[in-house]
Amino acid sequence: MKIIHYKSTPVFVDGKWEDLPKLVDISGYSKVILVIDENVFRLWENRFTQFEYLIVPSGEEQKSLVFVEKLVQGLIALGADRSTLLVGVGGGVVCDITGFLGAVFMRGIDFGFAPTTLLAQVDAAIGGKNGVNTGDYKNMIGTIVQPKFILTDLLFLNTLPVIEFANGMAEIIKHGCIADATYFSYIESNVEAITKRQLDVLRFVIQRSVEIKASIVAQDERESGLRKLLNYGHTFGHAIEKKFGLPHGYSVSLGIMLVNTLVVIPQNLKADESLRIRQLLANFGLPVNYEEYPIKELLELVLHDKKRLSDELHLITLKTIGQAEIVPFKIDKLTKE
Ligand SMILES: NC(=O)c1ccc[n+]([C@@H]2O[C@H](COP(=O)([O-])OP(=O)(O)OC[C@H]3O[C@@H](n4cnc5c(N)ncnc54)[C@H](O)[C@@H]3O)[C@@H](O)[C@H]2O)c1
Repeated sequence: MKIIHYKSTPVFVDGKWEDLPKLVDISGYSKVILVIDENVFRLWENRFTQFEYLIVPSGEEQKSLVFVEKLVQGLIALGADRSTLLVGVGGGVVCDITGFLGAVFMRGIDFGFAPTTLLAQVDAAIGGKNGVNTGDYKNMIGTIVQPKFILTDLLFLNTLPVIEFANGMAEIIKHGCIADATYFSYIESNVEAITKRQLDVLRFVIQRSVEIKASIVAQDERESGLRKLLNYGHTFGHAIEKKFGLPHGYSVSLGIMLVNTLVVIPQNLKADESLRIRQLLANFGLPVNYEEYPIKELLELVLHDKKRLSDELHLITLKTIGQAEIVPFKIDKLTKE
């Protein structure tokens, strides 16, 4: 196990879920209540006998104020108080909900995460952004509060469906692209081992991605600068997710391809590097052919969203693999091309 610290949060990478009471001092809490994803509970039920729990049905729809209120009532029924510890066990949906619930229940109680999807282990659980959706708008209601701990048990990944695994790989490849060329090359050289979920390789990849995200969050928790780099591929990715309902990682993959090739500026990413990124995404089964989608409509969707704020769009692009930058684009320039 490796412990990575950011701000005051320890991330136990490759820790064992059953060791929670040894890794985290829970003696001062009146009780521990788990908030568990329904599929994780069904698949791993015998691992959750120690604590009381509330179940979260699978799906993005649960990220709503209405569902959070149901959980609040569940907590009251279980006798939760100010010194209860909440632990979210599941993917990004459960982490987002549990973090928000923890931040608002009785004006804030402690919470931690045991992320069970690859995406949550390398991305959603880290960084303290918690929130729920309203209507079509994602994460419009939320808080930034860091979890007390993150316990990442790789055993949970054994039951993760292939598509969900690929979703996590999109964020992992993103981390290599924006922050670490050596890491990017390592992923390129280990596609087969990662796909087979070979433990030693997976452990390294999760650890490196946690280090990259945690270090960025530690420097810029409230996204005033550096943290924006994590949005590489996401400006168009979010538009694709919203318009075509593709899974998050699939949308980010297409978003990365769009920004690398369509919105290219002369001094930016070389064509051979863009090809390497394309190949790596494709090797993990992620879609890369954005030409199959109505690009003009997508651009319009992005531009429409941003236009209200200014006539400039700030895009995250790569100078080279391992180095990202924020580039302002005049909206006029994009629409003419
Ligand atoms: N807060 C942040 O910084 C942040 C960052 C990225 C994404 N997110 C959010 O994360 C969410 C997406 O997270 P996600 O991709 O983990 O999706 P998810 O939480 O919906 O989980 C995906 C699916 O996998 C199932 N599952 C979870 N763990 C499993 C396991 N070990 N075995 C079998 N099935 C399992 C779930 O039941 C679900 O059906 C989105 O709501 C997104 O907005 C938040």
